[in-house]
Amino acid sequence: MPKIVILASGSGSNAENIISFFKEKNEITVSAILTNRKEAGVIGRSFRLQTPLFYFNKFAFENGMVTDFLKYLNPDLIVLAGFLVKIPTSMVQAFPNKIINIHPALLPKHGGKGMFGNNVHQAVKDNKEPETGITIHYVNEDYDEGAIIYQAKVSLTGNETVEEIAHKVHQLEYKYFPEIIEKLLNHG
Ligand code: GAR
Repeated sequence: MPKIVILASGSGSNAENIISFFKEKNEITVSAILTNRKEAGVIGRSFRLQTPLFYFNKFAFENGMVTDFLKYLNPDLIVLAGFLVKIPTSMVQAFPNKIINIHPALLPKHGGKGMFGNNVHQAVKDNKEPETGITIHYVNEDYDEGAIIYQAKVSLTGNETVEEIAHKVHQLEYKYFPEIIEKLLNHG
C-alpha cells in the first residue's frame, strides 16, 4: 500500500482531512506526521487520529536528520500541509518529485517567503483580487516555485473578511487535496 508522510506546522486541519479520507478508503496509508512546532494543533489531532507523530527541532532539520528519518520511513509521497519552513536543497534532492505543497492562493501570485496562512489572504484582500484559490505544486529549492500540479479557484466579492477568505480557501483544500494526492499515487 502506498505510504504518505505529512509535514505540518500548524492547526493540522488539512492533515486530519487527508488522514480521514484515506482511512475510509483503506488504499493509501498516512504512516506519520512530522512537525517542527511543539505548540502545533496537529499534535493533538495525531492522538485522536491514532497516527504516529514526530517532533523535530531546527538543529535536527538543519543537520539532515529529518531527511535521514524520511529516508527510513521511505514514503511514496511527502505532503506539506501547512508546513512553514523552507525545505533544504538536500531534502529536495533526496526526494525528486516526491514532495508536494499546498499554497492557499493562486500562484504565482501571493507566494514566497513570509506568505503563509492569513498573510496570504490579507494580501489577496488588499489587492482586491476578484478570485483566489489553492495551488498544489511540487516543491523545489525556491519557495512556492515548483511545477504546478493543480489549481482550483473561488470568486470573491471584495467584501469578505480575511477569515471569510480563509474559510473559502479551506473548503477548496479539503475537497481537492486528498483527491489530488490519490491521483498522484495511483497514476504517477
Ligand atoms: C493551509 O491553508 C495551507 O494552505 C497553508 O497553511 C494552512 C494550514 O492550515 N499553507 C501555507 O500558507 C504555505 N505557504 P491547517 O494547519 O489547518 O491545515
